[in-house]
Amino acid sequence: MVWGCFCWSGVGLLWKVSGNLKTNSYIDILENALIPSVDLHSLHSDWTFQQDNAPCHKSKGTKQWFGEQKIEVMNWPAQSPDLNPIENLWDHISLRIQEKSPSNHSKLWNAILSTWDSIDINRLHTLIESCRKDVKP
Ligand SMILES: *[C@@H]1O[C@H](CO)[C@@H](O)[C@H](O)[C@H]1NC(C)=O
Repeated sequence: MVWGCFCWSGVGLLWKVSGNLKTNSYIDILENALIPSVDLHSLHSDWTFQQDNAPCHKSKGTKQWFGEQKIEVMNWPAQSPDLNPIENLWDHISLRIQEKSPSNHSKLWNAILSTWDSIDINRLHTLIESCRKDVKP
């Protein structure tokens, strides 16, 4: 599995995930990939984190971590993983990977990375705009 994030100014770091995601492993990802991504794009206090309602995203320990980091988390409608804008990027990557049909893990990872790094910024803008429209009351 792969974890990634993006914002208006571009994609963040990609992180390889092995095994089931539990609170502790999710917090590891946030520390190792979300925080450096926030730094990479020089986000200061004027941003909100969006994630879907997977159990490890909503656990007590994870909520506490966001609180300690002073990261604002967007309320996300229940039962709507498909609305999560990053799903669009995973679909895009999955299609590109199928075209390349990498023959081993290291080629697969490289193909994921190069697809991720070449994502068009306009795609990100469209996803963020559509998310605003969906989520606003
Ligand atoms: C993956 O395949 C490439 C090219 O076929 C090869 O150079 C590389 O050593 C392989 N990597 C592994 C981990 O088998």
